[in-house]
Amino acid sequence: MKVYVGQPLPEPSTTELLAGYDVVLGTGGLPPAEVREHLAAVDALLPTPREVVTRDVLAAAPRLSIVAACSVGTDHIDLAACRERGVVVTNTPDVLTEATADLAWALILAVTRRVTEGEALLRSGRWEGLKGLGILGTGLQGKTLGVYGMGRIGAAVARRAGPFGMQVVGMRSADGVDSFEGLLRAADVLTIHAPLTPGTRGRFGRSEFLRMKRGAILVNTARGPIVDEGALVEALEAGHLGGAGLDVYENEPSVHPGLLGRMDVTLLPHLGTATRETRLAMARLACAEILRFFRGEPPRHRVA
Ligand code: DGY
Repeated sequence: MKVYVGQPLPEPSTTELLAGYDVVLGTGGLPPAEVREHLAAVDALLPTPREVVTRDVLAAAPRLSIVAACSVGTDHIDLAACRERGVVVTNTPDVLTEATADLAWALILAVTRRVTEGEALLRSGRWEGLKGLGILGTGLQGKTLGVYGMGRIGAAVARRAGPFGMQVVGMRSADGVDSFEGLLRAADVLTIHAPLTPGTRGRFGRSEFLRMKRGAILVNTARGPIVDEGALVEALEAGHLGGAGLDVYENEPSVHPGLLGRMDVTLLPHLGTATRETRLAMARLACAEILRFFRGEPPRHRVA
């Protein structure tokens, strides 16, 4: 059996669990030209979100029977095409919940306490010492955290709000208009934890930002295309939003140039799950799904 692993993952995962398999390790991304020779003989794919599994990739892999995503998000996989072909798709929920929730809080704190700006001042060599009016942030006590996407990760983010003295307004992305409008109106900090679907793509754009409180902060650790980055830049430039913390982008690895120079945004390179413990657990879970599948057992986390 041949398994194509999109890029190196924390070990021991593939080396231990897939020891009996012919494992081919990619270098990141799935440009069909480069990997076509492997795809022709591959029985299983283990992609990260960077390896996009399109209809073309599936067509180049006639033996493929399982795609075991090393991620909870599966928007990089053409699920409809997999279903048509009878290719099973699995993902890695649960093991990444706490790490992603921690990183959302890192962004909330970084933006509200102006960490990016403070660090840039210090590194520039222009810091003159403590100033009573220097780089004043915003406190969280008594404020409202809006959680868009009250699934596992959203709920974990909400659980952390109590010790910061925040109240929480949350909704699932499938909830109705009233919940959404209530969330926009109530949130001092609005954090996104929904999957990318046709219904959530572009959900936060110009008119949504205008309906948010003046000075509110937006945090996104879910998927970039849920937010219209151009509209976000406009809302920040206009001073309508007070800042943003982003870990994901509309066109990764590109970032809207209007965000790069701004000190009221904290920008991270898709690090939500990036702890050694979590990435190892994800890699092992994805490998275990492949093992189960080829042993004829039902996968634990099947999405297609
Ligand atoms: C996920 O699991 O979907 C993350 O975005 C990638 O680690």
